[in-house]
Formats: sequence, structure tokens, C-alpha cells
Amino acid sequence: MSIMLLPKILGCVWILCLLSPEIHGQCTKPATSENAVIHGSDILKDTFDIDSAVRLVCHHGYEPTSGSPRRLVCGNNNTWSPGPERFTCQKKSCGHPGELANGHYEFPNGVEFGAVITAVCNTGHFAIGEKQRSCLGDGQWDGGNFVCEVVKCEPPKPIPNGQPRPPVNEMYEYGQAVQYVCNGDNTMLGASDTVHCLENGSWSDVPRCAKVVCIRPDIPNARLVEGGSGPYGYKYTLRYECNVGYKMTSDGEMTCLEHGWSSTPNCEAVECPNPGTTNAIITDRAGGPYGYSAILTYKCQDGHRLVGSTQLKCGSDGQWSSKPPTCQVVECPNPGTTNAIITDGAGGPYGVSAILTYRCQAGHPLVGSPQLTCGSDGQWSSKPPTCQAVGCPQPGTTNATIYEGADGPYVPGAVLEYKCHNEFWHPLVGSPQLKCGSDGQWSSKPPTCQDVSIWKIIGIAVLAVLVLVVVCCIVWWCYTCLSVVLSSPLSLDLVLNQFYSQWAGHWAAIGGIFALCPTESISAAIGGIFALCPTER
Ligand SMILES: *[C@@H]1O[C@H](CO)[C@@H](O)[C@H](O)[C@H]1NC(C)=O
Ligand SMILES: *[C@@H]1O[C@H](CO)[C@@H](O)[C@H](O)[C@H]1NC(C)=O
Ligand SMILES: *[C@@H]1O[C@H](CO)[C@@H](O)[C@H](O)[C@H]1NC(C)=O
Repeated sequence: MSIMLLPKILGCVWILCLLSPEIHGQCTKPATSENAVIHGSDILKDTFDIDSAVRLVCHHGYEPTSGSPRRLVCGNNNTWSPGPERFTCQKKSCGHPGELANGHYEFPNGVEFGAVITAVCNTGHFAIGEKQRSCLGDGQWDGGNFVCEVVKCEPPKPIPNGQPRPPVNEMYEYGQAVQYVCNGDNTMLGASDTVHCLENGSWSDVPRCAKVVCIRPDIPNARLVEGGSGPYGYKYTLRYECNVGYKMTSDGEMTCLEHGWSSTPNCEAVECPNPGTTNAIITDRAGGPYGYSAILTYKCQDGHRLVGSTQLKCGSDGQWSSKPPTCQVVECPNPGTTNAIITDGAGGPYGVSAILTYRCQAGHPLVGSPQLTCGSDGQWSSKPPTCQAVGCPQPGTTNATIYEGADGPYVPGAVLEYKCHNEFWHPLVGSPQLKCGSDGQWSSKPPTCQDVSIWKIIGIAVLAVLVLVVVCCIVWWCYTCLSVVLSSPLSLDLVLNQFYSQWAGHWAAIGGIFALCPTESISAAIGGIFALCPTER
């Protein structure tokens, strides 16, 4: 051992002397948690013997949390068991204060010790008593005699020309309603005929009673479509419609109110808007104003076609009858191709008065018009022409009529058929058919029709006379024979004398050198043998 160790040993002994309470077996004062305190006179002690116990309690308004140890014991290892920190305190709770009739509580900071709640009454109720209650240290709410009382209204008062409908109560509670009635022919005015007891103890706005009469209105350019001829009382409604050509610029309805009509219908003359411009030209009434039934007339420049309506009419609704028309350039269709050649104007455009010129190759005659013009209707003046393969010439005209093949084309093999108007009197002279040969020549000259022949007339006249004579003879002969048969066996003379005695003299004259007579033999006469014989007279 060195002499140097001595001061250290002495130091240690001194430290041990300082720690003597532990050494001697004692506990220090336990360190309590918040709101906890040592119970009773133990609070005055600084040291506690081993095996001694202390009790911990909570401050006013606090209670030990469940599971907190009741006692702390000073153990022989000089510490408290269980540890003092295991004992904790919490605020006492006052719980819910219970329901509040006609109101409720507000809990801004809970229901524990120190909290303050406020009672609030429902609308139409007023508070009696202290509104605020505090949670006390004993876990009880203070106060508690607070109530919410319903607001009451005095009976409603009569009004000029009216009063509340009986029976009228002595007192009314908030929210109750009372209806008013008007006297006589007074009209109830105001938003409602009923008043309500309000939350401040007064009544809502009372209605008014007054006589309301509106005078008959005069609405120009309009006609009444709904409503009578008056008198017009309160809320009576008239409805007007504008006359044709006028339009309503306001509401068409007017209602009789306290101080007169609610509004006055207003009819203004209809005007159509500017129709706008197109490439069509307005020929009439350009510029406006365009009143009802105004008419605009349009046209197009030459070579253009109008698309749409030529006329626009301003309708009673202020709208034009249709959109303004437009003008389109007129074009003829593609003429199509034939075997004729277009020498001028081919390919288009085929506008109005465009001209197409056709020709045929040498030796081929052109059939149709050599020029086509595009008309303003968009149509060509005629069909395109064609070219004949090889043509016979136009046949010369005679007084005979071509009734077949006259239109051509006079190509080889084409046949022309001729006819005369009256074949009997005018027989055809020449061949009735002409055929176009492959050499481009007709088979013969065209035929002609003969004049009326005088010999034909004479022959027919002679024939007619002969026929007449024969007919006369046959008739005469029959008469005679019949006479002979009927009066047999009398002779002709006898017959003539007996039955035609008055003609006897004439008979010979008529008969001339011939007369009709039966043979001598009557039997032969019956057999039908007759002969012409010279007269005996
Ligand atoms: C002291 O002793 C008690 C019982 O005798 C025991 O529960 C505790 O844990 C001990 N404390 C320490 C710090 O040793
Ligand atoms: C009662 O309240 C109504 C509307 O809430 C108000 O118009 C009226 O003036 C109040 N009456 C009084 C006496 O305060
Ligand atoms: C028709 O023409 C021929 C020849 O030119 C002439 O002889 C004849 O009289 C004419 N016939 C009639 C009906 O005119």
C-alpha cells in the first residue's frame, strides 16, 4: 500500500457517511404524479422506515384512475413498492346533465370537473334561470332550476274592414295561426290572410281589407281572348292577343290589383329583319322597312337560274316566308357524242349561248342541225347531228306522198314508199317504191299522181244509165208477170185494159218500141219463160 492511496480511502468513507440513510434502511418521500398527494400527516415526513406504508390521494375534483395502488410500502431495498408513479389522478366527470325541455345544452369543453355548459332554448322559447352550469369537484352540476318557456302572443287585433275569424282565444303560443276575414265585398289584400305568432311575441304582417275595382282597359291593335266585360274585381285576369301583323312586346295578361292593372299588353307592328344579301337581285321593295305582308321580288342576271323562291313575304310572325334565293350559272349538259365531229366549242364550259358547231367528213351528209346553242333554260337547241354513212340525195318532191322513210337517213338500202291521196281518181304513175342503191342513187324517179281522167267519168256515167235501165225493166217486168199470174189466163192487153186502163195510153209511150209481154201460152208464162217482144199497139 502506498501512502498515495490514503486520501482516496478517506474520500470514500466520507461519501458512505453521506449515504447513511440508505445504508441504515430508509425510503425518501415518494414523488407523486400530477394532482396526487400523500395522505394525512405523512406529508410532513421526509424519510420513511423500511416496511412503513403511505397512502396517496387525489386533489379536489380529481379521483384515482382505476387500477391505481391504494398503498405504497417502503421495501428493504429502500424503494417504494409499487412505485409512486403508478398512482395517477383524473378529473371527476359530472356526466350528462339530462334532457332540457324545449331546449338543449351546449358542451364546449366536455362534462368533467371545471367544465361549463350552456342551456339554449328552442326558437319561440325564452330562458328562465341561470343559463350556465359548472361541473363541481363533487362530480355534480350546479344550478338546475333553468327552464325554457314558450313565447306567447296577445290576441290579434281587428283591421279596417276586417277582423280575425272568430272564435278568438285569450292567448296564443308561438307558431299558432289566426285567419282574418274581410267585411262585405272588401277584398283580402296582402301576402296571406293568416297571421302567425312570432318568436318575439308579435304577430306576422296582418292582411288588409279594401274594395278593389279596375276599369275596362283599351288595348290598341289587340283583341280580348280571355276574360269577360267587367266589372273587374281583385285578381281578375284578362288575356289579350295581338291582331294579325302585330306582336306582343309584353305579357299578354293583365291582372286587376289593388291600385289598378298589373300591366298593359302592348302590341307593336311586326317587322321582318333585313333579309340579307345573296347574288340574286331584289327588283322590288329593296331597302325596307319590311312590315307584315311586305313582299320582296328577286331575279337573276342573264345566264343565271334562280334557286329558291322568287318572292319572299313577311309573315305575321315577323319571319320571311323563306330564305332569299340564290342565282346559279346556267350550264347545258354535256351534249354527248355522235359520229359528227365538233369543230368549235368542244369541251365546254357550256354556258348560256355557248355554241357547238358540227361537221361530217367529206361525202357524208350531216343529218340534223350543224349548230347547237345552249339556251337560258340549260337545254341545247336541238339534238346533236349525225353523219350518214353514204347518202342518196334528198328525193325530189312530186304530188305523190311519201308515207314511209321520208325522215331518212337515206342510206343504202333505205326504201321510200309513195302513195296518192285518192288512188281511184288519181292512180300512181311510176314505181310506188324507191330504194337507195349502194351507188348513192335512187332506184327510179319518184312517182306522180295522175289527174282525173274525163274518159273515166264518161264510162261511169254510161254504166250508171245502163244499170238504171236494167233495174227499171226488171221492176216493170215483175209488175207485169205478177199481173199475168194473178189474172191468168188473161192476155197482157186484157190486163192492161182491165187493171191499168187509165194508163193504157201512157204505157205505149213509156214502152217506146219495146214492151214487156208474156208469151201466148199461159202455161209457158207460169213456167217463167218471158221474152222482150215488140208491142202490138
Ligand atoms: C425492492 O424489493 C421489492 C420487494 O422486496 C421488489 O419488488 C423490488 O423490485 C426491489 N427493487 C429494486 C430496485 O431492486
Ligand atoms: C318581431 O319580429 C319580426 C320579424 O321577425 C319583426 O318584423 C318585428 O318588428 C318584431 N317585433 C318586435 C316588436 O320586435
Ligand atoms: C301531178 O303531177 C303530174 C306531173 O307533174 C301532172 O301531170 C299531174 O296532172 C299532177 N296531178 C295532179 C292531181 O295535180
